[in-house]
Amino acid sequence: MSKAKIIDGKKLSNDIKKEVASQVAQLKLEGVSPGLAVVLVGDDPASQVYVRNKASACDAAGIYSKVINLPAHTKEHELLKVIQELNNDEIIHGILVQLPLPAHINSANIIQEINPNKDVDGFHINNVGLLTTGNPNMKPCTPYGVMKMLESEKVPVWGAEAVIVGASNIVGKPMALLLLAQGATVTICNSKTKDLSAHTSRADILVVATGRPNMVTGDMIKPGAVVIDVGINRMENNKLCGDVEFESASQVAGAITPVPGGVGPMTIAMLLTNTVEAAKRTL
Ligand code: GUN
Repeated sequence: MSKAKIIDGKKLSNDIKKEVASQVAQLKLEGVSPGLAVVLVGDDPASQVYVRNKASACDAAGIYSKVINLPAHTKEHELLKVIQELNNDEIIHGILVQLPLPAHINSANIIQEINPNKDVDGFHINNVGLLTTGNPNMKPCTPYGVMKMLESEKVPVWGAEAVIVGASNIVGKPMALLLLAQGATVTICNSKTKDLSAHTSRADILVVATGRPNMVTGDMIKPGAVVIDVGINRMENNKLCGDVEFESASQVAGAITPVPGGVGPMTIAMLLTNTVEAAKRTL
């Protein structure tokens, strides 16, 4: 039995998706029908699942979605051209290029081509800069979803010790900036961190996004801490597990997100939120 409160990301994401759907209906009355383009290059099975889930969440919320599947051998200049077309397409308000891209394509070049006002991932340098200077335009979906979870659980962030394990551009770095903006004292650990436990065991809020199954265990967690597990790892037995060992962690934490049903659904809810936000700005 878990001692920690389980933070239900599925339920919260459903509440947010309902709110998005009502905003979409209102926008349509005002003459704007929000549209999202999702670009997938290659046939990575996990990416295919994510893209399908994003498209069906759009459908359920009344958002038009267009999935563009391109072969793995697509050249960088061809992908740039697709982005330019989407930038100029008035029915598309949000553009998402599913990462990772094949190795022969420079992801940074592609992201820089997206119109920053259609960059619903918040990965364009302009949007990263605005987030860094405390005036965000589009917030990256996963960290944005984590902030919504903390808010809905009434977790005090101001003055809290927040420790993030993983320093990616998609999760770790923007997560740090959002927590910092809310007054947390933030530490970002990475794969070279010498004594990881020394950091994690100080955390009031611990966010783990490493892509390494079960790497944070209960003995590394401060009793009563809020533990946010961003990892989604498919194990040999086909089961999903997080980057946090749930069994031991849930005996020590005060609250914890499960995998699946924690952060994952929130990422999609925030993608829809950002798409509607982008559409509203065209009014
Ligand atoms: N791959 C894993 N997470 C993400 C994400 O949030 N956005 C995009 N575009 N690709 C991803």
